[in-house]
Amino acid sequence: DESIRVNSDSRDIVQTLKDNNKNYLVLYGSQTGTAEDYAKKFAKELAAKFSLRVMCADVEKYDLHDLNELPEGVVVSFFISTYGEGDFPDGAVPFEDFLNSLNSDDLNNLRYTLFGLGNSTYEFFNGAGKKTHKLLSEAGATILGKYGEADDGAGTTDEDYLGWADSLLEILKTELSLDEHEQKFEPSFHYSVLESGVTDKVSLGEPTTQYLPDGELTFSPDGRQTGPFDPSYPFVAPIVKSKELFNSDDRNCIHAEFDISGSNLKYSTGDHLALWPSNSDEKVEQFLSCFGLDSSVVFDLKPLDTTVEVPFPVPTTIGAAVRYYLEITGPISRQFFSSLVQFAPNDKLKDRLNEISKDKDEFAKSITAKYLNLADALLYLSDGAKWNSVPWNFLAESVPRLQPRYYSISSSSLSEKQTISVTAIVENMPNPSSEKAEPVTGVATNLLRHVQLSQNNENVKSSNLPVHYDLAGPRNLFSSHKLPVHVRRSAFRLPSNPATPVIMIGPGTGVAPFRGFIRDRVKFAEQQSNVNLGKHLLFYGSRDQNDFLYQEEWPEYSKKLGGSFELIVAHSRLPGKPKCYVQDKIKERDQEVFDLISKKGAFIYVCGDAKGMAQGVHATLVDIISKHSNVDKAEATEMLKLFKTSGKYQEDVW
Ligand code: 2AM
Repeated sequence: DESIRVNSDSRDIVQTLKDNNKNYLVLYGSQTGTAEDYAKKFAKELAAKFSLRVMCADVEKYDLHDLNELPEGVVVSFFISTYGEGDFPDGAVPFEDFLNSLNSDDLNNLRYTLFGLGNSTYEFFNGAGKKTHKLLSEAGATILGKYGEADDGAGTTDEDYLGWADSLLEILKTELSLDEHEQKFEPSFHYSVLESGVTDKVSLGEPTTQYLPDGELTFSPDGRQTGPFDPSYPFVAPIVKSKELFNSDDRNCIHAEFDISGSNLKYSTGDHLALWPSNSDEKVEQFLSCFGLDSSVVFDLKPLDTTVEVPFPVPTTIGAAVRYYLEITGPISRQFFSSLVQFAPNDKLKDRLNEISKDKDEFAKSITAKYLNLADALLYLSDGAKWNSVPWNFLAESVPRLQPRYYSISSSSLSEKQTISVTAIVENMPNPSSEKAEPVTGVATNLLRHVQLSQNNENVKSSNLPVHYDLAGPRNLFSSHKLPVHVRRSAFRLPSNPATPVIMIGPGTGVAPFRGFIRDRVKFAEQQSNVNLGKHLLFYGSRDQNDFLYQEEWPEYSKKLGGSFELIVAHSRLPGKPKCYVQDKIKERDQEVFDLISKKGAFIYVCGDAKGMAQGVHATLVDIISKHSNVDKAEATEMLKLFKTSGKYQEDVW
C-alpha cells in the first residue's frame, strides 16, 4: 500500500471524488493555513456528526473543469482566504482564473456553501471570498445558507466561523436529509505504533519534503541539506549574527541575520522571511503530561484513501510531532473543544466540556480571555487531573499544524544578497487574567531570543527565561545556531524609478522593511556616479530613546544620501510630554506631504500595526488630501483607494 502515500495521479476533481467513494466536497484556498484549518475542521465535523464521507482538498491541487458534473447530492463547501489587497492566495490564482472563465449556466448543477476569511483592517475586506461568491452565482450555481465571512481584524474569526457553521449545518441537515448523532471521531489515517524504535527512516522533526516514499530524509550523512527549497521544504539557515536592539522590563527586540548562501534561495527587498518555529521544552512537556503521552513512542499514519495527505512526515516519534509539528500553544477553538467531549475522562467533565463549548460567552470568559492553550484549558477544567483518555491519533489529526511565522525583511537584497535580516519584538506578555498565571509567550520570537543569547555565550539552559528550547534540533541539525526558513514574495516594492519620491511610515518594528528600502537606495547611490534621487521621507515612531530602532544607523544613511533622505521621529512616552505618534508628525508636514503625493507622484508605504496605526495614518492622509484639494472626505478616501489599486499606496501590516 506504499503507492497511496504518493499523490494520486488524477487531478480531476470529480474522478477523484468518485474513485474514493466520497459524497461531500470541501475545497479551500489558503495563504497562511487559516482557511485550510477551518476547512478541515468543517470536514471533520461533517464526518463526526453525520458520517458523511468528506473529501477535503486544496483548490491548488485539482482540475475543476468538470465541477458541474459532480454526482447527484454532492455539495461543495468553499473556504477562501483573502491576502493583500483583496487578492486570492498564491496557490488559488488558477482557481480565480477558472472562476473568471465561467459563463452563465456553466455551474447550474452546483450547490455550494462559501466561507471567506479576511481582515477588515484591509481596504478590500474578503475580496477573494466576495469575488468567488459573485462569479459562482453568475455561473448559475446555487448557494446553500448564507455566504459567511470571518474578520481577523476584529479578532472574531473563530466565532464568525461557528456562527456561520452552526446555522449551515442545520440547513445541510434538511437539504441532504442527514441523521445527526453524537460526534464520533472518524480517522482519516490508519494509525500504528512501530515496535522497532528509532531508525534512520524515522523522522525526528527535520525539515523534509513531505511525500518522499518511505520517509527518506533529505539530509546527507554530514548534515548537509539538498534543495530545491520552497514553502513546503525550508532551508536550515545559519544565523550568522544576532543582537539585542533594546531591552526593557517588559520587552526586548532582536535583530537576527540569516545566511542563505548555497541555498539558491532568493529574496527582494520588501519580502518576508518565514521562520519555522518549534515548541519550547516547557510547553512540550506540559502537553505530553496533560494527555499522558510517551514522547519516545514511534508511530506511523497511513492515509485511508488518496484524498488525504499525512499532516507531517511519518513515521516519527510522539515527542518530535508535538515539538515540531503541532500548534500546541495557540488559542484553541470552541469547535475543537466540542470534539473532545467524546473523549472526556468522566461524565462530570463531559458535561462541563459540553456546557463550555456550547456557550460562546462562557467560552470567551473562561478560556479565551485567560489566554489558555489546549493543555492549560483542559487541566484547568479537570483541576489538574490528566486526560489520558484522549487518543493520540485523534490529537495528531486534529490539533492544527505549527505554522511558519512571517517577518518583514529588514535587509536589502541589493546591498546584501546572501544575508536576510529580521527585526522582532520578543513577546512575553504577563497573562492579563491573573498575576499568578504563566506569561503568554510567542513561540518564534522567544526562540530567536534564545539563539541570540546563546550566540552571545549566555547560559540559556539555566537562565530564568519563561521558556527554554532545544537549540540543537532534530539529529543536531540546528546546532551552531541554525533555523529553518523560506522566503515569501511580497508586493511591497520601491518604485523602480529612484527619482520618484517615497513616503514611508513605520513605527516600532514596522520600520523593518524601510531599513531595507534605505539600504537599497544607499547601495544604488554608491554604484551610480550621478544619481537623481527623489525625496525619501521616513516617519518613525517609538516610545522613547531606548526603543528607537537602528538609531546609530540612520545618520550614516543620511550622510550617504544627502538631502534626499529624511528621518522624522515621533516619541510617544517621553516624561512630561504629550503622546506623539507618526500621524501627528505627518500632520505637521501636511503641505509637503500633499505636494509630494499630488504633484510629484510620491509612493506611500505603511508598515506595522494594522488596527490602530495603519488606520490612524489612513485617516490623517484622508484629512490632508481633503483639506488641500478641497474635496470631501468620501472623495479623498476614494482617491486613496485608487492609489492602493494602482500600487502607489502599499501596506504591510499585521
Ligand atoms: P504607545 O505604545 O506609547 O502608545 C511603536 O510601538 C510606537 O507606535 C510606540 O511609540 C507606540 O506608542 C506607537 N503607537 C501605538 N498605537 C499607535 C497608533 N494607533 N498610531 C500610531 N502609533 C501608535
